[in-house]
Amino acid sequence: MRRALFPGSFDPLTNGHLDILRRSAPLFDEMIVGVLNNPDKNPMFTVEERSEMIREALTLIDGSGCTFTVASFSGLTAEFARRSGASAIVRGIRAVSDYEYELRMALMNRRLEPSIETVFLMAGEEYSYVSSTLMKQVFLLGGRIEGLIPPQVEARMREKLDPGA
Ligand code: PNS
Repeated sequence: MRRALFPGSFDPLTNGHLDILRRSAPLFDEMIVGVLNNPDKNPMFTVEERSEMIREALTLIDGSGCTFTVASFSGLTAEFARRSGASAIVRGIRAVSDYEYELRMALMNRRLEPSIETVFLMAGEEYSYVSSTLMKQVFLLGGRIEGLIPPQVEARMREKLDPGA
């Protein structure tokens, strides 16, 4: 059983995240999407809301026989990966600018849990500029982000902005 952890903040999930999940599915039997509980970062969505949106979006993608599960966690990613029985941590790389930060994390995670390898997957070029932070910023300033995040996530963002609408 090849089990991997795909950790992140997912505030919110983007089509770039889904692209990485699609690409990792043929490589693993089980993918755990690990949603970091980071209330100190003042996220737009609670960890429960983020997890729910991911579960919804996952029903729409072809898992190629890979089982997807969603779980929230606090503390160290490496520790959560070990507790979950994952042998790999999956991270997406969009551009060279991601590399330095990701390399530091991967090396630190390897030091913490030597038996767990980080696997980097290259995001589709159409998502090379997509990040949750940019999506929130553009959305809050009234810009169009359709095609870059799942429609149901966009609907939730709209609801957050204007709960009465
Ligand atoms: O989606 P993000 O925000 O790029 O994900 C970053 C994340 C959650 C993977 C990273 O911040 C993380 O692993 N945080 C948990 C705390 C931890 O393990 N820190 C040490 C990393 S070497």
